[in-house]
Parts: sequence; structure tokens; C-alpha cells
Amino acid sequence: MHLSTTAQKQILLGVTGGIAAYKAAELVRLLRAEGAAVRVVMTQAARAFVTPLTFEALSNEPVHLTLLDATEESAMGHISLARWANVILIAPATADFIARLRLGLADDLLATLCLATDAPIVLAPAMNRLMWENAATQENIRCLQDRGIRVFGPAAGEQACGEVGWGRMLEPVEICNQLEWIFQNGALAGLTVLISAGPTREPIDPVRYISNRSSGRMGYALAQAAQEAGAAVSLVSGPVSLPAPRVQEMVSVERAEEMYQAVVSRAIYHDIYIGAAAVADYTPATVAISKIKKQTGETMIHLIKTPDILSAVAALEDGPFTVGFAAETDRVEDYARQKLAAKCIDMIAANRVGQTRGGFESHENALQVYWNGGQRTLEMAPKTRLARQLIELIAERYHAKNPA
Ligand code: PMT
Repeated sequence: MHLSTTAQKQILLGVTGGIAAYKAAELVRLLRAEGAAVRVVMTQAARAFVTPLTFEALSNEPVHLTLLDATEESAMGHISLARWANVILIAPATADFIARLRLGLADDLLATLCLATDAPIVLAPAMNRLMWENAATQENIRCLQDRGIRVFGPAAGEQACGEVGWGRMLEPVEICNQLEWIFQNGALAGLTVLISAGPTREPIDPVRYISNRSSGRMGYALAQAAQEAGAAVSLVSGPVSLPAPRVQEMVSVERAEEMYQAVVSRAIYHDIYIGAAAVADYTPATVAISKIKKQTGETMIHLIKTPDILSAVAALEDGPFTVGFAAETDRVEDYARQKLAAKCIDMIAANRVGQTRGGFESHENALQVYWNGGQRTLEMAPKTRLARQLIELIAERYHAKNPA
């Protein structure tokens, strides 16, 4: 293995109680061979599979076992451990630990460290295939991914219980390779990125509005990925029910007009604008002051056009590198290319919507990305992973347009 970006990094390895715990020993050896410093935290259950002495010998560091260790806690041991880590890697991560992490429990050292850190957290799940496929585990994993926690694997294959399927922990060498990505990415270092996300709500009266199915997941994943790539991120968000990601500035808006004001007033102070929001194209011409009463016959709502945020940003003098989205049910490439040209933007990421997989609300998506003179396909993947791929591509095109 080549000397990697993992060298000189401080990795806190959490080992939880599964049969794959024995593979964590090899992981420590590989990480140290790459030049990383490794400290190990074991849960009580992990100690039934491997002894702390194994990790102590391999890491050349004392192994941390309990939250209330009198000698360490007098110096707030769990806080200093959490601060020490450049990344917290939990391998193997059992179904039980994943559930406890989702709940935010702080009843042992490892769970507490995860609450007390602002370092990236990575899980390498390992469990029986039915436990992995269980709706509870899948929901926990999705929720943690939405919070920005990375999940490496699991792999499919023969399991310790004799069954065959998804749930095997990735091989240590594969975990090391994926970990490099986290340290590698400074593609947007020093740049400022403005992102719009989520739907807008166009009020009809005090209790009704026109909106769409955007959950905000795509835009929030992009904010997270841009932040990880070293950018200072401002996120302008319509109403969503996702936890706010850790960004430089978070602006909540409701109507298209409010999103327009929030984005356009900030755009010239940013290097890149990504319009992932599903902005209403039309809004009611007037908003009734009181709740509109049911009529005996049909009724009409007079709609007027909203301002086009993307076009306005692209038209700014000294404006940012501008990336739009296109949500299309058919003729995806034609309509995306038309929008790229008509809105005079630098890039457009087109997604097919209205299908069973991808697009609005889904946790996964696929994108066709177009720019003048090029295109790239990003295959169906969780929005968190897809966002990282898109951010890499945006960084590549931005740097091609603005050479150092
Ligand atoms: O939020 P999720 O549930 O994760 O779903 C993600 C998504 C499907 C919403 C996202 O991937 C996406 O496609 N966002 C753009 C949706 C959209 O409004 O597409 P559009 O083809 O109607 O608009 C084209 C572009 O113009 C978009 O960048 C949009 O932000 C922008 N626009 C549209 C209208 C308007 N008044 N101002 C704009 O800036």
C-alpha cells in the first residue's frame, strides 16, 4: 500500500461486540503501517471477542474501556479523546451500537465520544444478513447518513452464522482505502459555496399552500460534502424536516420570493452557487387574509410567475460559478441542455423524477451532468455518496474555469 493521506492522522477506532472484532486487529496494524496514530476504545461486548491486550500491543497505546475511569475522567478523559481524533471509525459496528448512536445515548465511553466529537464518524457495519435487512436497522442507517455519518459497506458473502448475504464487515484493507477519501478531499479548500435546498411553500391563505415533494436531502448532502471538501458553506433552505447540517451560515426561507432575496443578495460573495432547491415556478397572485371558505361550485386560483433565481445569479456581474439542477420526468437530456443554455449557467445536474427510485424524497438518486463541451453520468447511489461525487466534479470544472 502506498504512503497515503492517512499518514499522521489520529484515528480513534471503536470496536463493538461482533465476531468481526478480530478483523479490527488487522485494521489497527494496517492503519499504523500507513503512518496513522491509532487509539482503541472497546465496548464491554467487544471484550468477549478480543482482549484489550491485543489492541494495546498493536496500537502501542493504552486501550480505553470505561466511561467512568477515575484516573482518566479526573482530566475529562472522554472529552480529550474526542478532541484528539481526526476521525472516529467504528469497526465492527453492531446493529445494537448503530441503534444506540441513532438515539444519541451516552451510556458507555464509545457512544459518549460520538456525541462529544465534531470529527467525522465512520461506521463499518457487521451483522447477520437479516439483522442488516431489518427495517429498524435500515431506518437507523438512513437517519445516521442524513446526519452526515459515513457508512462503509457492509459487503455480501458467507457469514459467521453460516448464512449468505449482506452484512459482512468490509475487509480491513478496503476500509483503509475508503478512509483515505475523508482525508484526501480538499478540492474546495478556501472557496465559498452557496447552496439552495428543499421546496418552497407558496401560501394561498393562512392555512394552505402550494409546494412540492422535495425533502431537502439532495441539497443538504451537497452542503455536507462541500463542507467536507474544505469550503465555507451557506445553505438557504426551504421548509424541510432534516437536522441542520454543520455549515457556516444557515438561512431558512419559505416562499420563492424569500429564497430569491436570500440567494441573490449573497451570491456575489460566493465562488460557487448550487441551486438544488425545487423552487415553485408559480405563486398565488394574492394571499387571502382569512381561511378561504368552501364554495358550492368550482374555484380558481390566479397564479403568477416567481422570479428565476438561477438565471438571476448567472446574470450577475462577477457572479459565482453557477450549477443548476433539472428535475425531469422525460426527455431528460434535451430539457437539461435547454436549461443549461437558456439560463446561461456553467453546469446542470439532471435527475429523472417521478420514478420508483431516485429524485424527490428518495434517499438515493442518479444524475446526468452537462456543461459546455462535456458530460458525466453519476450512477444511482445514496444521496450522501452522490453529493460527494458531484462536489468533486464541480470542483474539477470550477478549477478548469478559474486556473490558479
Ligand atoms: O430534495 P430531495 O427530496 O432530495 O429531491 C432532490 C431534487 C429532486 C429536488 C433535486 O435533485 C432537484 O432536482 N432540484 C431541482 C428541482 C427543480 O426545481 O428543477 P427544475 O427543473 O424545475 O428547475 C431547474 C433549476 O432552476 C433548478 O436548479 C431550480 O433550483 C432553479 N429554479 C427554478 C425555478 C425558479 N423560480 N428559480 C430557480 O432558480
